[in-house]
Amino acid sequence: MSAHHEEAHTGGKKSIPQILFWFVLVFAVPYFVVTSVISLGFSDSKSVPYPASHPEVTAKRIEKVGSVEMKAVDREPKSGEEVYAAQCAACHTAGVAGAPKFGDAGAWAARIKNGYETLLTSALKGKGAMGAQGGGAFNDFEIGRAVVHMANAAGGKLPEPKKPEAAK
Ligand code: HEC
Repeated sequence: MSAHHEEAHTGGKKSIPQILFWFVLVFAVPYFVVTSVISLGFSDSKSVPYPASHPEVTAKRIEKVGSVEMKAVDREPKSGEEVYAAQCAACHTAGVAGAPKFGDAGAWAARIKNGYETLLTSALKGKGAMGAQGGGAFNDFEIGRAVVHMANAAGGKLPEPKKPEAAK
């Protein structure tokens, strides 16, 4: 197989190993990247042993979205204090990862000055070491109540957020 070897070095035809190498790089690597991204994205959804087009799969997906909507519509919204205890206290009580501590006026004053909308956006979408707080067990209105609860415990005078029409 020395003929192949020489050809590779004289810039002639590509050797089989080179072709394989480029094949792997061009096709296989993106394939694995794409499939692993897809499996990551869906890893928290219920795994269903049917092809994606099966009616039961569609039913499961619709059911999932539907139940999220039901949750937001059917139950009484939680108070800021309840949301805080359930989802925010883990970081904000002790000041984990630089979180402004609950009741610490010094840590909150400059943030409160930025206004409720800024604070709410930070909470919903995340900021620095804080991940997004929206889109989980609590709706945006409830996260807003938790923001007000925290800000006002640290010397803020933010009004209670208005209950959105859709959540009634
Ligand atoms: C994983 C820990 C963690 C959790 C859980 C957490 N936070 Fe935070 N929070 C932080 C950190 C860290 C900061 C400081 C971010 C920065 O300024 O870089 C912060 C900052 C904030 C701010 C100030 C944002 C600004 O614009 O200055 C608000 C408001 C806030 N959090 C609200 C909440 C609410 C409401 C919850 C619960 C629904 C919550 N946080 C849950 C870690 C957390």
